[in-house]
Amino acid sequence: MAASTLSVMCGIVAYVGARPAKDVVLEGLRRLEYRGYDSAGIAVLDGEEVELRRKAGPLANLEELLAVSPLPSSGTGLGHTRWATHGAPTDDNAHPHLDCKNALAVIHNGVIENHATLRAQLLEAGHRFRSETDTEVVAHLLEDAFGQSGDLAQAMRDVCRMIDGSFSLVAVHRDAPGVVVGARRNSPLVVGVGDGEMFVASDVAAFISATRDALELGQDQVVCVTPSGAEVTTFDGTVVNGRRYHVDWDISAAEKGGYDYFMLKEIAEQPDAVAATLLGRLTHEGTLALDETRLDPRLLRDVDKIVVVACGSAYHAGLIAKYAIEHWAGLPCEVELASEFRYRDPILDKQSLVIAISQSGETLDTLMAVQHAKEMGARVLAICNVNGSTIPRASDAVLYTRAGPEIGVAATKSFVTQLVAVYLVALYLGQVRGTKFGDEVAEVVHELAATPEKVAQVLQTMEPVREIARQLASAPTVLFLGRHVGYPVALEGALKLKELAYMHAEGFAAGELKHGPIALIERGVPVVIVMPPPTGRAVLHSKLLANMQEVRARGAYTIVIAEEGDTAVEPYADELVRVPRVATLLQPIVSVIPLQVFASELAVARGNNVDRPRNLAKSVTVE
Ligand code: G6P
Repeated sequence: MAASTLSVMCGIVAYVGARPAKDVVLEGLRRLEYRGYDSAGIAVLDGEEVELRRKAGPLANLEELLAVSPLPSSGTGLGHTRWATHGAPTDDNAHPHLDCKNALAVIHNGVIENHATLRAQLLEAGHRFRSETDTEVVAHLLEDAFGQSGDLAQAMRDVCRMIDGSFSLVAVHRDAPGVVVGARRNSPLVVGVGDGEMFVASDVAAFISATRDALELGQDQVVCVTPSGAEVTTFDGTVVNGRRYHVDWDISAAEKGGYDYFMLKEIAEQPDAVAATLLGRLTHEGTLALDETRLDPRLLRDVDKIVVVACGSAYHAGLIAKYAIEHWAGLPCEVELASEFRYRDPILDKQSLVIAISQSGETLDTLMAVQHAKEMGARVLAICNVNGSTIPRASDAVLYTRAGPEIGVAATKSFVTQLVAVYLVALYLGQVRGTKFGDEVAEVVHELAATPEKVAQVLQTMEPVREIARQLASAPTVLFLGRHVGYPVALEGALKLKELAYMHAEGFAAGELKHGPIALIERGVPVVIVMPPPTGRAVLHSKLLANMQEVRARGAYTIVIAEEGDTAVEPYADELVRVPRVATLLQPIVSVIPLQVFASELAVARGNNVDRPRNLAKSVTVE
């Protein structure tokens, strides 16, 4: 996972120069609003003090606070927009975080994997904690390290060697006026080089109105910034040259990371999102660590049935969960659209576990299903992307996906991280219930750990898919076929096309073809076929190969998504899209990506706004 760069979460901006830092930082935070956030805060140095203002909710709340309680006009400060991962989105959990003496302030993007152990050690040593965040451990570690060296950059290097996970960190200290120190591992950080002033930010959008000259920090590097320059070192103190470059994006392109639409940026962020969702949840020994979910292993051993409820793309993730749970945990699993679930008489009791999957955590149909399940005595586990949202609060346990904010209405990175989450839950059930031997769980854990890299590989080879999409821009319909876990992928591919391109599209279980849908096939109808891996369940592969021949014989234009090295498909594929080899159950993580790219490119070719498809809402809070 080391190659991945987690950029999907919080917004960071720091300033040192002649202007009042509070104004420059607030302006930078406004520029980062597009990333999505649930709280914000600013700290500035003022002589002997670090002055701090933080507020949950939109930036307007922080601005109101600043109006009644203004910050001093010093030239050194930092600010943060938070997307909650550890701890609810409250004022106290908002960044910056301070040490015990209010001498230093720190902001963070990413996840500190070993925060629980460090927190326990720091508490033991007498530190006082004021938030539930993983970040606050860094404030206290820096306090001790600065106490020893009296040098903020040295203290940051010392701390970076003690923490695991992904992080962009920025800190200021009252005893180091005119200095901002940043550090990064697996999460981006960039320095803006101005004239007598400098910026440190999570992305260039934060400072692009002030300067287009930037310095990129490399992996495992620390930067010490003053108004006149920046010194970059490795974590062990070797001085290195950062890469200087000129930013030629305008502000709106900068917000979208250079992409035309947020959704395209979100598709590209999927390796990071998958890596973030796995972070700290897989051990090196090949087991799963899901203690944070509040799932009591004793209760899980008593569960005799699982019911998954969800809507839209999350429902498709639920369909895939069924295959994983039945296979790894050996438990019966039903999957139901949340809007249907509460209007029948589901048989549930306290031995039932209901899994509610929702990106937003606010979908009313899913919330109502959760309440219905709880009334019947079932336990509810939420799989959710928005920390502190309603569905996790109404549930007994929660596993957060860490896709970061998703702005495009159609689910992409949230869907792929929901898949990761359901695999984690299914394997965890197998682990605690002993239905799988440890070595079998370990094998899948290692496969899962490799998925961010595989997703990145798929994304690098998508140009031919865009070309196919452009050619099909005026097709009246597109059909999608799959079997086993490829069937929900086919449904998701069809949904993406309906949502984004406003085209008729249907996904089918390939075995059902002969029972009706084959009547739709005529000359030139595009049929996208999600092939299962040829190894593993070979019977699935040969069956789908036969289905492919059936549709082709009737004139279909076949677009085949198949694993590298699967030569058997070649004679029957008009277009062939390769995905890397993964275990059969994990294949949706890679095979859905070409379908997202296909739908978005087709939509763009048809002149649609892929971020805001007509008639749709990101989160549907009506029934
Ligand atoms: C809306 C969105 C879909 C999403 C569905 C469920 O319909 O347009 O993309 O899959 O809601 O949303 P949730 O937030 O519960 O995952």
